[in-house]
Amino acid sequence: MNVETISKVPLHVSLIMDGNGRWAKERGKERVFGHIEGVESVRACVEASIETGVKYLSIYAFSEENWSRPEAEVQALMGLMVKAMANEMESLDRNGVRFVVLGNRERLADELNATIDHCMDMTKDNETLTLIVFLSYSGKWDIFQAARRMAVEMAASPEKMGEVMSVEDFSKYLVTADYPDPDLIVRTSGESRLSNYLLWQGAYSELLFVDTMWPDFRKEEFRKALESYAKRDRRYGKVK
Ligand code: IPE
Ligand code: IPE
Ligand code: MG
Repeated sequence: MNVETISKVPLHVSLIMDGNGRWAKERGKERVFGHIEGVESVRACVEASIETGVKYLSIYAFSEENWSRPEAEVQALMGLMVKAMANEMESLDRNGVRFVVLGNRERLADELNATIDHCMDMTKDNETLTLIVFLSYSGKWDIFQAARRMAVEMAASPEKMGEVMSVEDFSKYLVTADYPDPDLIVRTSGESRLSNYLLWQGAYSELLFVDTMWPDFRKEEFRKALESYAKRDRRYGKVK
């Protein structure tokens, strides 16, 4: 990959990985084949992030709404998650990747939560790249849990109200408190919607919708997304 051509590299790239099912269907296969092939695309994007100097890569792996899919598909996706972590963690760790999972973890099986805790602990000091997997996540849920936690805290100690005086103070209650907002959000598969993804954190993200199905989104597509980002003029409401 020719890294020199990318003039302005985003700090945080976020990917809405969509189109696995259609990709498989186009090939006369079961949807799960698309999910399996999609894991390869994640690996490619992790490598491309390291090569280009992206410091945070996040992926929308499973939404709160995805729990409503057929039980067999939910189970296949959860199984794939455990398998991918088992297969990839050593190499991620060796390459300096800090692995983080964010979302409504109360809904995840104990076995999966235990594996996640182990992987997060094992890689917590790595600094080359932070890989955030949004699992059982939705933007509205995140804002709701933040407001609820804040309310519970304030009810117990009303004097704490003085500590939350700004939008930034409130955002400390979101699950993403420790991480920067995404500079670029890319969605694959030709759909132009956020599907309840980072509603708060994406307030000023650059959005890119591409037709490529997720299993075909590899290094070249990632690099093209960065090139598109490099051409954007981020004004944040100001006059430049
Ligand atoms: C993305 O692919 C993976 C998840 C949402 C878990 P889809 O499974 O949504 O594939 P399509 O959009 O139906 O093709
Ligand atoms: C969004 O894709 C969620 C993830 C990529 C995890 P979906 O396929 O679930 O979204 P919709 O149904 O097209 O909105
Ligand atoms: Mg989809």
